[in-house]
Amino acid sequence: MIEMFFTDSNFEAYRNLIYNESGIHFTATNRSILESRLKEILRTKNIPTVDEYLVRISNDKEELKAFLDSITTNLTRFFRNQAHFDALENFVVPELLKIKKEGNQTIRVWSAGCSTGEEPYTIAMLLSEILPPAFKFEIIASDISLKCLMSAKEGFYPESRITGVPEAYLKKYFDKVEGGFKIHADFQNKIRFDYHNLKNDPGQRGIDIVFCRNVIIYFDEAAQNAVINRFWDAMANKSFLFIGHSESLFGMDTKFEFVNTKWATLYKKFI
Ligand SMILES: C[S@@+](CC[C@H](N)C(=O)[O-])C[C@H]1O[C@@H](n2cnc3c(N)ncnc32)[C@H](O)[C@@H]1O
Repeated sequence: MIEMFFTDSNFEAYRNLIYNESGIHFTATNRSILESRLKEILRTKNIPTVDEYLVRISNDKEELKAFLDSITTNLTRFFRNQAHFDALENFVVPELLKIKKEGNQTIRVWSAGCSTGEEPYTIAMLLSEILPPAFKFEIIASDISLKCLMSAKEGFYPESRITGVPEAYLKKYFDKVEGGFKIHADFQNKIRFDYHNLKNDPGQRGIDIVFCRNVIIYFDEAAQNAVINRFWDAMANKSFLFIGHSESLFGMDTKFEFVNTKWATLYKKFI
């Protein structure tokens, strides 16, 4: 049995490291979540103290990645917040089709904080249905959680996780396999899954649509500002940003403009 002491100064040291490495802000209210995850890690790795583990993750990049992975919240689902997909279909895509008429016929999407893939697969299914044949799309889906990315790439979802997928899409884009459904292999290739920490510049440019939903809610204001400004740099001159319905750019130092559509609210970069 491992003795576990998680003092105030331990908490301070861990929350600083997590914040500096990922932007995720652990408040005093969710200290117990961190504590219970650490308990589990120490037990499985047979490490006696939180101090020792802190030294290890501070000196070993791979160990640090695994730790950050373990403290993320990955809740997601297909067609999460349907209103966003209604706005994508009825407002954003028609706008982009007008803008792109004379130019590049590819719509580039980034699902930032894609978790286990439900969000980018939802976008891919919808765009496949609604884009005119002359248009193509590319989706980059990224996350800080390697476990989630592996599961997203595999594209297998147990029955309990495919609720919300319309019957017709299920037939068209998935194979029924034992215990659940698997995204068609050729459809999986439409999405590039990448490890990316939103603390860093993605190196992307010319993105038409960014989905970053239910991610910045875990960041403090300074980290939110930094991420949002990095999106600005990554996005095309006429492009759109979706954030979670409980998130807002209100009060932030950003040039994104608020758009209130009939379906949902979003932001645009129009320069
Ligand atoms: C609650 S999920 C949201 C998934 C999806 N966007 C949705 O709305 O259903 C949040 C995701 O953000 C990821 N995340 C948190 N901090 C991150 C960071 N600094 N860089 C990249 N991804 C991060 C987590 O690993 C997690 O998978």
